[in-house]
Amino acid sequence: MADLKILQEFNEFRGSPPGTTICPAPLINLHFSQLGVVTACCFNRTHVLGTYPKDSVDTIWNGQAAKELREALAKNDLSKGCEKCMQQIEARDFGGSHAAFYTIFARGMAERQKELGIAPDVDQSVTPMPMKLEFNIHNACNLECIMCHGLASSSIRSRRESQPTMPNPYDDEFVDQLAPYLPHVVEADFMGGEPFLVPAYRQLWERIAEVSPKTKVLILTNGTTVDDKIRALLEKMNCSMHMSIDSDVKETYETIRKNASFEEVMENANYFREMMPPEHPLVYRYCPMRINWREMPQTVRNCNENRTILHFNQLDSPINFSLATLPYDELEEVVAYLDENGPEEPTTDIERANHGNWVEMVARFRGFLEPSNRLNGLIARLDTAAAVVSQYSGGIEGQSKKRLAIIETEGPLTEAVKSFLITRLNVDQGVANEPEIPDHILERFEGRTKGLLAFVDPTPPDMFVRVFLNELLRTYSGVWGVYEPHDFGAFERILAFAPWVAALPDPKGAIRAMVATSPEELYRLFGLVTSTDEAKTRFGADRPIAAIEEPKAIEEPKADEARDDLPTPYRRSPRKETLAAVVAGAMIDKLAGLIIRVADGPRR
Ligand SMILES: C[S@@+](CC[C@H](N)C(=O)[O-])C[C@H]1O[C@@H](n2cnc3c(N)ncnc32)[C@H](O)[C@@H]1O
Ligand code: SF4
Repeated sequence: MADLKILQEFNEFRGSPPGTTICPAPLINLHFSQLGVVTACCFNRTHVLGTYPKDSVDTIWNGQAAKELREALAKNDLSKGCEKCMQQIEARDFGGSHAAFYTIFARGMAERQKELGIAPDVDQSVTPMPMKLEFNIHNACNLECIMCHGLASSSIRSRRESQPTMPNPYDDEFVDQLAPYLPHVVEADFMGGEPFLVPAYRQLWERIAEVSPKTKVLILTNGTTVDDKIRALLEKMNCSMHMSIDSDVKETYETIRKNASFEEVMENANYFREMMPPEHPLVYRYCPMRINWREMPQTVRNCNENRTILHFNQLDSPINFSLATLPYDELEEVVAYLDENGPEEPTTDIERANHGNWVEMVARFRGFLEPSNRLNGLIARLDTAAAVVSQYSGGIEGQSKKRLAIIETEGPLTEAVKSFLITRLNVDQGVANEPEIPDHILERFEGRTKGLLAFVDPTPPDMFVRVFLNELLRTYSGVWGVYEPHDFGAFERILAFAPWVAALPDPKGAIRAMVATSPEELYRLFGLVTSTDEAKTRFGADRPIAAIEEPKAIEEPKADEARDDLPTPYRRSPRKETLAAVVAGAMIDKLAGLIIRVADGPRR
C-alpha cells in the first residue's frame, strides 16, 4: 500500500487503529472453490492456499501460502492476489472492498463465538482458527442466467459453452476433514452452482445440524428447487436465506433467469420469509444491470414492505450488461434517476439496511463517472480475466486433466484465444467509451494479439478455426453479454465450417482476417445466423488482413432487434457507433494498426 493517506482514511472508515492488518481474511476464513482450489476469499483467485485433495484442509489452513498472505497483509501489502481490493481502496470505494467487509466481520465474529459458547480452547490471536467457511465448490445448476457463466452453472457450461462436465474433487473425505472445524465455525456460506443441487452441501448441512446447529448457515440460492427434504434440513439449522432476485417484474426476471418460473420462485420466497428467524430476515441479492436499473426504486420499496433486505451484487461483467461500463452520458442518466427516485427516509431496521445498501450502490456507480476509476476497472477486468482463463484451462491435476481431454490437447491455443478475445472486447469497449486509453493497455492487447497469431502457422487450420470460433461464442455471450444467446447448433455449424476454411487456397489468410474481424460481427455470423453461407461469403474471398482498413457496416445482432417492441430498459443500450464505425475512427486506427503490424510481422 503506497499511499499512507488513503490507508489512514480506510482505517477510519472501518474503525481500525493504525497498524491493524489491512485485511484479516486469511486469519479467519477459507474459501473452497471449483477444482479443489482453496483461497482466503472469493476475490483472491491467484494466491492459492492449497488444492484439495492434494493438500488436506489442515495443511491448507496451516501452510506456507496462508502464512505468507497473512504476513503480507499485516504489512499492508495487497500484491498477493488482492489487487481487486487494492483497486477499490485506491478508488476510495471502501464500502465495496472485501478487506473492509472481513474487518467488520472478524470483529463481530470473535464476540459471536463467545456468545454462542463455541470458542475453541486456543488463543486465536496466536493460533488462528477458521471462523468462517465459504463454499463455492460445484457448478451444478438448473438455470442459464444471462449474466452468469459455465464455471457457476453446469447448464450454461454444457449448453451455451458446449464444454465437458467440470471435474469435482470434493468427496466424503473432504466432509470428514472439515468435521473438527465445524463446532467452532460462526458462519458457513454456501454458494453456487445452485446449493440445493450440490450433494456435498447436503452432507455438510447434516453434519452442521448435528454438531453445531448454532452456526449461521448462509445459503445463496436461485430459489427454484426447494423440496420437502430440503425444507426438513433447513428447519434444523440456523439459516440465513439469500435469494438471487434480479427483478420483481415477471418479464424481466424470466428474461434474466432463463429456465426459472417467477411464480414458483415467489412462492419459495414466501416460504423462506416464514421460516426465517427474525434476526435473519430474507435477503434478495440483486445484480444491477442495464436491463433492470429503472425498476430498482420500486424493488427497494417492495422489499421494505415485505420485510426483505436488498443487497446489490457488483456486476463488472458481462460488460454489455454492466452499468459501470456505460458511456458517460448514459451512466449520468442512470445515477441521476437513482438519486431522484431513491427510497424515503428509513424508519425500521430493514428500511435502514436497505437505505444504506442503496446509498452505497449509487455511490459506487457515481464513482464510475470518474475516468481513473473506469480505467482501473478495465485493468482489473483484464487481470481477473487472466486468472479466470487459467482457472478454466490450467492448473488441473491428474485424473481431472484426463477428463478434460479437449482442454488438455488444445489448452495453450484455447488459452491464447480466450485471453485475446477478453482483452479485445474490453479494449474495444474502452476505446468506444473512454476519452483516452493508456498505451500500456494497448500494449497488453498487442501482446495478446501477437500471442494468438503465433499459433496460426504451427496449428492445423481447421483446428485453429474451430477453437477460435468456439471460444468466440463462449466469450461473446459470457464476457460481452447477449440477451438471446446462440443455439447449441452453432457449435455444429462451426464444426462443418472449419474444414471448409482449411480447404481454401490461403486458409491462413482467412484465419488472420477472422482474428482481425470484430467479435460482434463474428458472433452474428456464427452464433445468430443459422447457416454458415453468410460466413463463407465473408471469408471465402481469400482476402488479406488489410480488410480491416475498410470495415463494412455491422448490423446489430438479430436477438437485440427482436426486442425493439420491449420498453427501453429491456433493449440493449444503443451504442453510439457500431464497432465498424469506431474502427474507422481515430482511436481505433491505433488498434487496427497494431493488429496489422502484428499480423504482418515476422512469421515463424
Ligand atoms: C453464481 S450465483 C450461485 C448461487 C445461486 N445459483 C444463485 O443464483 O443465487 C451467486 C451470485 O452471483 C450472482 N451473479 C451471477 N452472475 C454474476 C455476474 N456476472 N456478476 C456478479 N454477480 C453475478 C448471482 O446473481 C448470485 O447472486
Ligand atoms: S442460478 Fe446462479 S449459478 Fe445458476 S445460472 Fe443463475 S446465477 Fe448462475
